[in-house]
This record gives sequence, C-alpha cells and structure tokens, in this order.
Amino acid sequence: MANLITVTETAKIIGVSIDTIRRWEKKGLIRGQRNNLNYRVFNLAEVKRVHDKFFGEPEINNYRILKTNKKTGYHVLELFAGAGGTALGFSNSGLNHTMLNDFDPDSINTIRKNKPLWNTVSADIRDINFKKFKGIDIVEGGFPCQAFSYAGKKLGFKDIRGTMFFEFARCVKEVQPKIFMGENVRGLLKHDGGKTLDTILRLLYKLGYNIKFRVIKSQYHDVPQKRERLVIFGTKKELRLPIFFPREKNYIVTVKEALADCPKSIGQEYTSRKKEIMGHVKPGGYWKELPVNLQKEYMGSSFYMGGGKTGMARRLSWDEPSLTLTCNPAQKQTERCHPKETRPLTVREYARIQTFPDNWGFTGTVSSQYRQIGNALPVNLAYHLGKCLIAMLEKKPDLRAMEIANETPKRKLS
Ligand SMILES: C[S@@+](CC[C@H](N)C(=O)[O-])C[C@H]1O[C@@H](n2cnc3c(N)ncnc32)[C@H](O)[C@@H]1O
Repeated sequence: MANLITVTETAKIIGVSIDTIRRWEKKGLIRGQRNNLNYRVFNLAEVKRVHDKFFGEPEINNYRILKTNKKTGYHVLELFAGAGGTALGFSNSGLNHTMLNDFDPDSINTIRKNKPLWNTVSADIRDINFKKFKGIDIVEGGFPCQAFSYAGKKLGFKDIRGTMFFEFARCVKEVQPKIFMGENVRGLLKHDGGKTLDTILRLLYKLGYNIKFRVIKSQYHDVPQKRERLVIFGTKKELRLPIFFPREKNYIVTVKEALADCPKSIGQEYTSRKKEIMGHVKPGGYWKELPVNLQKEYMGSSFYMGGGKTGMARRLSWDEPSLTLTCNPAQKQTERCHPKETRPLTVREYARIQTFPDNWGFTGTVSSQYRQIGNALPVNLAYHLGKCLIAMLEKKPDLRAMEIANETPKRKLS
C-alpha cells in the first residue's frame, strides 16, 4: 500500500481537482481501492500517466499488438471463431490451433484469407462430431448467449438442447480437454436473474471441471476500449490444474494512441444532415451539446424519455479508451463518431481499437466487416488469456502478469 495515496493527496500532487480524480475513476481511466481506514486510495504513477494523456505529451505510445515468437506445443479447438480475434490473440501468445469453426461464410473467409494454413471448418456447430479431437489441450468458445426456459427447475444437459451453450458443452463432453475457456458478455451475470449463468456453471461442473469466472475490463489489458467480457475457465478435476486470470495493468491506452497513422480504409458515411448535426458535438461529447431544436430533431421520441442516453450522437474522446464497439459504428443509441472528423470510425479504425493488426484483412460487405470486428474478443486481451492458459497447463504463473484465481464462485456447484 506504500505507493497508494488518498484522493486529496493525489489531487494536490497532480495539480487537478478532487472532482477530476473522481471523474477519471468513474470513467475507468484509473483504479481506486479502499485502504484499511476505508479511504479511497490511488496509485500516484497510474494517475500521473492519465494526467499526461490529457495535459502533457506522453513520452511513449502504449498501443502495440502483443505477440511472442515462442510457440508452445499446446493445441486449441476454437468454436464460434468469428473473424479470429480470440484465435489470433491465442496464436500470438504461443498456442496452436487444431481446428476453428464458424458457420458464417464471411468470418471463415476472413480467417482463411489471413491464415490459409489453419484448419477452418465452415459448418453449423450442430453438425460437427468432436469425438476425433478427444484429449486436446484446450476448447475455447464465445458461445452466443441465449435464454434457457428455466421455469423454476434445475435444468439438465438435455433440457438446454438447441442453445449454443449446449453445443459448447457437448464439445467439452466429447473432447474432454484439459482446460476450456468460455467467453461471453457481462450481461450473462444477471441474465434471467443469474439463473442462466447458474445453469451454465452447474452443467460444466458436472462434466468434470473445476470452474472460475471473472469479468475482465479490456481497458486494463492493452486494449484501447472499455469492453467488458465474462471469462469462464474450467480445468479437468483430476488434473488439479491451477487457474490464473490476467493481472490488470496500471496504464490505459487511448484512442489517440490507437489511431495514430491508421491506414485509410472503407467505412460508413453519414447523411449530409446527420453530418451537420454531429458537427456540433465536441470530442467526448454527446447529444446534450446540441442546440435544443437539434436535440429534438435528432432524438425524436427519445428526447422526451428518461435516462442519460450518453451513447446518442456520441463522439469519441481522444484521451480515453474507446467506448465498446458494437456491430455498427453509426447506430442511433451507440454512435461511435471519430474524435475529430465528423464521420463514423472506418473499418481499419474499428480493427485498431479491437487490436487487430493492420495486415489482418476482412472479407464481405462493409457492414459485414464492421460486424465481424465488433463481435470479436480484442486480440490483445486474447493474448493475455492465452498466456494464462499456457501457465495453467504448465502450473507456472508469471505473477507480474497473472493472478491466481482464489475466489470460488458464490454459486454452489453441485
Ligand atoms: C461473438 S462471435 C465470436 C467472435 C470470436 N470469438 C472472435 O473473437 O472474433 C460469435 C460467432 O458465433 C458464430 N455462430 C453462431 N451460431 C453458430 C452455429 N450454429 N454454428 C457455428 N457458428 C455459429 C457466429 O457466426 C459468430 O461469428
């Protein structure tokens, strides 16, 4: 706790107001914690770095695509592979792929375009028999979240047939990997009052796995984006493998750093009226900056409804990580306008923010490319998760970069 100081001390040393420190914390730019006197305390070096991003010339650009040249002998079966965010990050961490599956032709073509030697299978997961992959090291899948009809009873494996989680669990059952990683949106925590996640965890536990899960904030893992993902790790009970999660970094990466020298590319355009309206919004701002007549025109009935709607007419800020990218950069509720130019982010800018390298091409129409990128797990986050998987298999954590998962899920798994 030696380098942690109170909000008042921090504000004084840095030369900003206490409100500014609190605002930075609320925005997820710095991380506060409670000391033993229950005061909120901050890491001075971390706050200084954010201050420099706003007010100074940061000496280094923290944006980089993480990659190790050292390959391991471990193999992954990748389900719901999409445009390859998870797959590329895993590969960059040293893992190898035995097979990748998706049923979306554009996504599979994207992976084939970039990694022609990878074994991609373009098929509906429901039609794949996984038994031939028995004993592989890792199964990974960002299964799409679907409601189970719970009706107050404990659902068994067969009761969830037809959902993509069933297919993920069927693969785990058929393959019996040493470890699996499931990945989903944060919303799964509260989905159906928590019952959906309960069912998922209970069924995976019954398949013979010890399980830990955690919500991971991408902005603390070398990703210039405030994207949260729920990550579930399971290790085969009899192997007694430890479980590690990536340790949060004490720095963030901003949109300015991510978009420096971004190559020109295709992208959506605004209508001329929308461009006129968006021209009133400053970096980091949203609809509240419009004159009232334009607020009414742009927002329509939403103007009269409650709630902040801070995603409407939103222009990204240069000095923060981006807001979560969705499948389209110009949706009314989740606008992602370029910080300076009055236009949606281009495809390549989208890819930068998801930490795809500039040479990772995408196939399909412009909207398909945005969708593939918006659906992905950020490549750098997948890199850190891949490193944890390797350390779990080797029972050797790098404690500077990883934390041992010690909190048992609150839910009773039996
Ligand atoms: C959230 S995306 C996965 C993103 C990927 N993990 C990445 O990092 O790029 C979910 C993927 O599941 C695929 N999918 C959905 N239903 C499927 C099915 N029945 N069979 C195969 N793939 C499916 C979709 O095409 C989509 O690409």
